[in-house]
Amino acid sequence: MTEKYDLIIQGGTCITPSGVTITDVGVRDGRIVALGDLGRAAGADYFDARGLHVLPGVIDTQVHFREPGLEHKENLETGTAAAALGGVTGVFDMPNTKPLIADTETFTEKWRNARGRLWCDAAFFVGATAGNVNELAELERLEGCAGVKIFMGSSTGDLLVDDDAVLGRILAQGSRRCSVHAEDEPRLRERKRIAEEAADPAVHPEWRDVETAVRAVKRLLKLSHASRRRVHVLHVTSAEEMALLRTREDTVTVEVTPQHLTLAAPEAYERLGTLAQQNPPIRDVRHRDALWAAVRDGLVDCLGSDHAPHTKEEKDKPYPASPSGMPGVQTLVPIMLDHLHAGRLSLERLVDLTSAGPARIFGIAGKGRTAPGYDADFTIVDLRAKRTISNRWIVSRCGWTPFDGMKVTGWPVATVVRGAVVARDGQLIGQAQGAPIRFLETA
Ligand code: DOR
Repeated sequence: MTEKYDLIIQGGTCITPSGVTITDVGVRDGRIVALGDLGRAAGADYFDARGLHVLPGVIDTQVHFREPGLEHKENLETGTAAAALGGVTGVFDMPNTKPLIADTETFTEKWRNARGRLWCDAAFFVGATAGNVNELAELERLEGCAGVKIFMGSSTGDLLVDDDAVLGRILAQGSRRCSVHAEDEPRLRERKRIAEEAADPAVHPEWRDVETAVRAVKRLLKLSHASRRRVHVLHVTSAEEMALLRTREDTVTVEVTPQHLTLAAPEAYERLGTLAQQNPPIRDVRHRDALWAAVRDGLVDCLGSDHAPHTKEEKDKPYPASPSGMPGVQTLVPIMLDHLHAGRLSLERLVDLTSAGPARIFGIAGKGRTAPGYDADFTIVDLRAKRTISNRWIVSRCGWTPFDGMKVTGWPVATVVRGAVVARDGQLIGQAQGAPIRFLETA
């Protein structure tokens, strides 16, 4: 019998654009070619998904895989391995590396080095600087480019644009959605002494306070309005920003991270110390509740893990010399499945935030939904599995997670990228064959 399909995923509960349905999925040449009862159809390979949920592949639109130059924290191979083992099929990687990814040479070199080392599909951001404004329109069109990233406030690395005139010029170049870290640099500088004097990570949300974020978001909304440029506000952390963003125009989209939806001050700083330190900061329960309200009412467009690994030794430095950031790409799916189990969001909304949302707002071609013609990317999960997240499970180079010891219900059991099962039951399978994520010409 000739094989009609390369892979048949049998009997899983699939989340499709037309609803949740138990069905087989037929895959050929890396794409979904059939949905429905495939009976005794012949496949080169079969995956028995009965009792499991087959989600469209999860796309994490904010990770820092540290390559080039900071490979002691992470590299593209370890970062994408963590992604695959955590049920993530595609990532957008950030440019705050050494050197920065801010011109054609560094961008092309990064892709040259990435080939054959990616366990999932990827796109790389280009960083905006005062020096590359005139090249951005060309850079954002390079194959495998996720768009332009702007840091309005300093965080890890040297990327910073703190001047509205330069920001305006950047937004006037090119047309794709710009992803923006919105913290107000002048206020950060003015208040840094709070961190220095306290020498305690518990003051991180006081140094980088809500007003710091609100000022930057206000400036950004104004600039986006003036230029009509589409902007994506990364890792929103406060009730006040959400209130502002609720008045947004159609050019503006919103991200939250699983850690801001899960951790809260002061408990996180008491328990985790500098491991809880990230920019913008983990804030108190009032803000966390506001983020959940924004998830539920549709204001939030997507989740990003802001996977930002630093070694334990680096994190052990006395605050505020300790670097900001925590890993998250491997824990995004289990953490969010646990929130699903707790009834904080629906499965459909989760899929919207992790697959359909990223595809819609960034104009990703061929990904983000389980439908014929789309890439056969799947995050196959067991919603009933009870597991404990542990540092031992983390394959990221940093070797730790802020969620060490957390008991969760719901676990990614297999990851399929363009028809290849790349991870199953905690093991990587086959070879690293990740490819550049493609974008619609209109994006
Ligand atoms: O906490 C953070 N760490 N926030 C960022 O914006 C950057 C990141 C990093 O690269 O370490």
